[in-house]
Amino acid sequence: MAPIDFLFHLGALLVLFARVVIADPALTIVPVNSTVTDAPLFDFETTQLTDDVIASLSTRDQKLFGFDNSAVNSGLFRRSGECKIFPGDEEWPSKETWDRFDALADGALIPTIPLAAPCYKNWGLYDARKCAEISKNFTNPYLHEADPTSNMWPIFQGRTCLPYDRPNGTCTLGSFPSYAVNVSTVAHIQLALNFARNNNMRLVIKNTGHDYLGKSLGAGALSIWTHNLKDIQFIENYKSDSGYEGKAMKIAAGVTVREVYQAAHKYEVTALGGICESVGYAGGYIAGGGHTPMSGYYGMAADNVEALEVVTADGRFVTASNTSNPDLYWALRGGGGSTFGVVTSVIIRVHPKVPIVTSSFTIGTGGNVTKELLWEGIRKYFEMFIPFTDAHTYSYFWIWAQNDGLQFQMVPFFAPNHTIDSFNALVKPWFDRLHELGIQFTPKTTLYDSFYPAYNENWGNDTVAGLTALPGNRLFPRGNWEDPEKFKKMFAVLRNQSLSGKSMGGYHQAPRNRMNVDNAVSSAFRHVISFLIGAAIVEGAENATAAELQKATDSLTYDVLGPWREVAPESEFGGSYLNEANVMEPRWQESFYGTQYPRLLELKKKWDPKSVFYATTAVGSEEWEVRDGDQGTQTQNGRLCRV
Ligand SMILES: Cc1cc2nc3c(=O)[nH]c(=O)nc-3n(C[C@H](O)[C@H](O)[C@H](O)COP(=O)(O)OP(=O)(O)OC[C@H]3O[C@@H](n4cnc5c(N)ncnc54)[C@H](O)[C@@H]3O)c2cc1C
Ligand SMILES: *[C@@H]1O[C@H](CO)[C@@H](O)[C@H](O)[C@H]1NC(C)=O
Ligand SMILES: *[C@@H]1O[C@H](CO)[C@@H](O)[C@H](O)[C@H]1NC(C)=O
Ligand SMILES: *[C@@H]1O[C@H](CO)[C@@H](O)[C@H](O)[C@H]1NC(C)=O
Ligand SMILES: *[C@@H]1O[C@H](CO)[C@@H](O)[C@H](O)[C@H]1NC(C)=O
Ligand SMILES: *[C@@H]1O[C@H](CO)[C@@H](O)[C@H](O)[C@H]1NC(C)=O
Ligand SMILES: *[C@@H]1O[C@H](CO)[C@@H](O)[C@H](O)[C@H]1NC(C)=O
Ligand SMILES: *[C@@H]1O[C@H](CO)[C@@H](O)[C@H](O)[C@H]1NC(C)=O
Ligand SMILES: *[C@@H]1O[C@H](CO)[C@@H](O)[C@H](O)[C@H]1NC(C)=O
Ligand SMILES: *[C@@H]1O[C@H](CO)[C@@H](O)[C@H](O)[C@H]1NC(C)=O
Ligand SMILES: *[C@@H]1O[C@H](CO)[C@@H](O)[C@H](O)[C@H]1NC(C)=O
Repeated sequence: MAPIDFLFHLGALLVLFARVVIADPALTIVPVNSTVTDAPLFDFETTQLTDDVIASLSTRDQKLFGFDNSAVNSGLFRRSGECKIFPGDEEWPSKETWDRFDALADGALIPTIPLAAPCYKNWGLYDARKCAEISKNFTNPYLHEADPTSNMWPIFQGRTCLPYDRPNGTCTLGSFPSYAVNVSTVAHIQLALNFARNNNMRLVIKNTGHDYLGKSLGAGALSIWTHNLKDIQFIENYKSDSGYEGKAMKIAAGVTVREVYQAAHKYEVTALGGICESVGYAGGYIAGGGHTPMSGYYGMAADNVEALEVVTADGRFVTASNTSNPDLYWALRGGGGSTFGVVTSVIIRVHPKVPIVTSSFTIGTGGNVTKELLWEGIRKYFEMFIPFTDAHTYSYFWIWAQNDGLQFQMVPFFAPNHTIDSFNALVKPWFDRLHELGIQFTPKTTLYDSFYPAYNENWGNDTVAGLTALPGNRLFPRGNWEDPEKFKKMFAVLRNQSLSGKSMGGYHQAPRNRMNVDNAVSSAFRHVISFLIGAAIVEGAENATAAELQKATDSLTYDVLGPWREVAPESEFGGSYLNEANVMEPRWQESFYGTQYPRLLELKKKWDPKSVFYATTAVGSEEWEVRDGDQGTQTQNGRLCRV
């Protein structure tokens, strides 16, 4: 037997042995009150990888799985052109090494099988019935959430395994990571982080896979899948090191917005979340700032975070709060996902239950109502955004361009702490104008006693995984409303785009800095009064060529968002919400992060000097590129290298 073979067999034996005996020491319980917060750790957070465990491993294992104890970056990975390793490379871990990982992680390692593999023969899993079910459910977010690596935007995956019955076709991994760790303890996260860092491997974090830009995808990566971390704890009287004393909730990384709302409802409080029930809470949502229908009272969701538990790039579990790692605390609230660490839980302030008034209706062209006339009605709506936001309200609307007409849908106007009378008084000038213009409508206006039923009846269920739409957005500052000339210019741009056949949607909302906090939330959100969404359509997206995809991408970047950028420039606190943005946004640093970018970049270098975390358009990502060839947009289907 050649020595190399011998080593291999010995390794295999050790792996078998490890499954039985060595796996356990990694799981070390630490005392539950070991953090600075006024809440015990969740059980899953008490199972940690410790120095003692690492010391008990072989030298080889220590190299693979040990912590990063070097205080500063050695410069080792800073060469231009330096790439993260990729499957097929000589440095790519052997089967034996992956097995060793799996053993230490108690069997939590999952080699990726693409969600739609049953639609193709090449994985040996072809099953027409299963394929049909996946195909039918593809727009159901929970299908993707239950899968270790799926993301809801197949274009950024590279469209290499679409859910169509193609037995003779080929399904490949594309941007899907090579392996995922099905995390159920902090130790799992630490093992994955240490392994990726020590082996110069690409790392991704996936919670629900909602991310619009492909940030929870990455070819040749190891993925930390947080979906199963589901704990929620209500705290009646939380004493924060920020000075806050009152009701709070501690929320684990895998909990969704709906689960937070349900818990808040149960304890008769209001928690800040978005309008999409299936979005993750403590992951991408909080990291990006998190906009919410309650913004008129309490700002951004991230403004309400008192503390976070997080595993940092060196593999260590730390608390980020006002007095514990305050700079990390600052960055994790608004500085973007997958950048500074893996958040395992957040502690948020919750607020008193308030009544909510909502109002939904549709107005459209037809009869005497021309498109131009309808836009006169929309003009009055836009003109009232200052009084609307002063009255703590929010609205969500769509303006659909149809064959020959237009339809404006209010879905809904959302007025916390209002009565039907106060709501009617607030919107009276707008509704009067609509009547004066001869625009017919019947608003369905309802009073709810609290947030959850109002939320539930108006937003209900999500559908996702559009293959044909490329969305983007712009945050329009209040300054455009205060200066009549700016308003006129901006309004002309929007009206003109709509009249020429483009659909758009959006919100009136003004989080301002209503909680008076200092965090990384983009300066654009402190000034925003309207958030608008636009999109480009990819015709025949399934088989669209790179040139066709490029054309759609350019249309989004330049035809749709270009004019918006011009009338809401960063220099006047315009910007774009990083969580729902166009991945090809030019000058994304200023656009997504506003004036916070320089400090965020400094903190990125401090907390992740070896670039363990990468995601497209994340802070510091300009130092890297994904070599995906010419795909017509930025997918994650390629090797990650330094530029
Ligand atoms: C239909 C729909 C409606 C939406 N509505 C709203 C809304 O009303 N308000 C709003 O603000 N946003 C909204 N969003 C956007 C949403 O906030 C983002 O898509 C968000 O990034 C989703 O986070 P996730 O953790 O669920 O998703 P993922 O795709 O799993 O992750 C998103 C990003 O966060 C990173 N990440 C995930 N978990 C962690 C973690 N534990 N630690 C560190 N990084 C992590 C990922 O690596 C990735 O970069 C909506 C999105 C959709 C698709
Ligand atoms: C730990 O925290 C819990 C809840 O906050 C508290 O009841 C308990 O007294 C604490 N234990 C110690 C040893 O501090
Ligand atoms: C598809 O959806 C149906 C109904 O919601 C559900 O019963 C089924 O389990 C789903 N299938 C998959 C593969 O998720
Ligand atoms: C797949 O290929 C086989 C022969 O290789 C052929 O008989 C069959 O019709 C093909 N199926 C489809 C759906 O194209
Ligand atoms: C992930 O782990 C959980 C336990 O935390 C288990 O219930 C679940 O089945 C696992 N999922 C997969 C896909 O392995
Ligand atoms: C945060 O902590 C500092 C001390 O580090 C303290 O001075 C300050 O009052 C605390 N609260 C807030 C809201 O900053
Ligand atoms: C349309 O306008 C005409 C003339 O101004 C008027 O007579 C008619 O009643 C209007 N129709 C509707 C549906 O308002
Ligand atoms: C609701 O409005 C009333 C007065 O209209 C005010 O006193 C109260 O503070 C408001 N509630 C909240 C939660 O702000
Ligand atoms: C949402 O889906 C659930 C089933 O998952 C269904 O019972 C409910 O009626 C749906 N709600 C809406 C508003 O469509
Ligand atoms: C209006 O739209 C047309 C067609 O899209 C475009 O050519 C023109 O420049 C636009 N004008 C303004 C003022 O935006
Ligand atoms: C894309 O190509 C496949 C394989 O050639 C074909 O079966 C399918 O119908 C095409 N899809 C569209 C939308 O044209």
